[in-house]
Amino acid sequence: MMKLILLFLMLASAFATEDFSGKDSMNDISFSDYKDFPTKWALVTIRFRKDTGEMRLTYANEIAMKTMNEAKVNYPDGAVFAKTGFFTGADPQFISSVVPKGLRRYQLMVKNKTKYASTGGWGYGLYDPDGKTFPEDPKVTQDACYACHTIVENRGDVFSQPFSFTSKAKFILPKDSISGSHIQYEWIKIQKLPEMVKKFIPAGIKKIRSVTNAKLKLNLFQGTLDEMKPILEHEVRKNKSPAIFISSDSKRFVLVMTKTSQECMEMGSFEVVSTDMKNNPVIEKYCTHD
Ligand code: HEC
Repeated sequence: MMKLILLFLMLASAFATEDFSGKDSMNDISFSDYKDFPTKWALVTIRFRKDTGEMRLTYANEIAMKTMNEAKVNYPDGAVFAKTGFFTGADPQFISSVVPKGLRRYQLMVKNKTKYASTGGWGYGLYDPDGKTFPEDPKVTQDACYACHTIVENRGDVFSQPFSFTSKAKFILPKDSISGSHIQYEWIKIQKLPEMVKKFIPAGIKKIRSVTNAKLKLNLFQGTLDEMKPILEHEVRKNKSPAIFISSDSKRFVLVMTKTSQECMEMGSFEVVSTDMKNNPVIEKYCTHD
């Protein structure tokens, strides 16, 4: 009987689709407590995603900035980073100039070693352009944020490095922070892949590149799959082979392959198959753009 109840509970939780959207606070981090960061904090750096045209700006509060400027990575409690993501697009009156076109999301990282001990001392918050939470479970999302940020454990789980926007500012990167990519791959035989992946792989291919980073595969949210696309693209170009990132429970994946297509002609094209929020595979095709 006990076992049955337990099984029922497990099933119920597996299918629970609680909606966590519309709240001000995620993992005890209230967006409204930090909403003034774009005018009050230091701009650390800007980053750009070529594939999606998304611009990101990272800001640091005083405590976080002080640690960075001392070229340290042991961020003390009270350090906070904020990141904004913008869509970009051409200025219609001068199309070679690309301008920000609306906010996508806000992200926060708040240091509190006791409270967020299980995620390296950083609490993670994700909000829509109105400063409200998304539907996904905040704990699951936080574990996914942390799993990817540990790629830069040597930088205190912080990716951004300060950029000198003024000629005077100087910053010396910790030496080990600039060593190569921390995403690792192995060759995986097609027959070892789950059926729902296999059917997308063109006939004749016997093995593909597969990401091995265990933490990342165990803890992921929809954003992880999206972030992995350009990284996999890079691996596809390097090895002339499809590349996949697949969750450790094999339910969620993003697979990147090259295809020839009429629309893209000699440029070639990428085909990306990625699971959506309901774990259904969605196919996307676009021309290679370099
Ligand atoms: C798959 C990898 C990945 C995941 C998952 C991820 N991040 Fe990041 N994060 C990055 C990268 C890379 C940067 C550097 C800036 C950039 O390229 O956008 C970054 C930067 C940041 C920054 C600015 C400080 C820093 O580390 O540079 C914050 C704040 C942040 N992320 C919060 C979050 C939150 C909150 C989540 C979860 C909702 C999350 N991140 C999930 C890769 C990831």
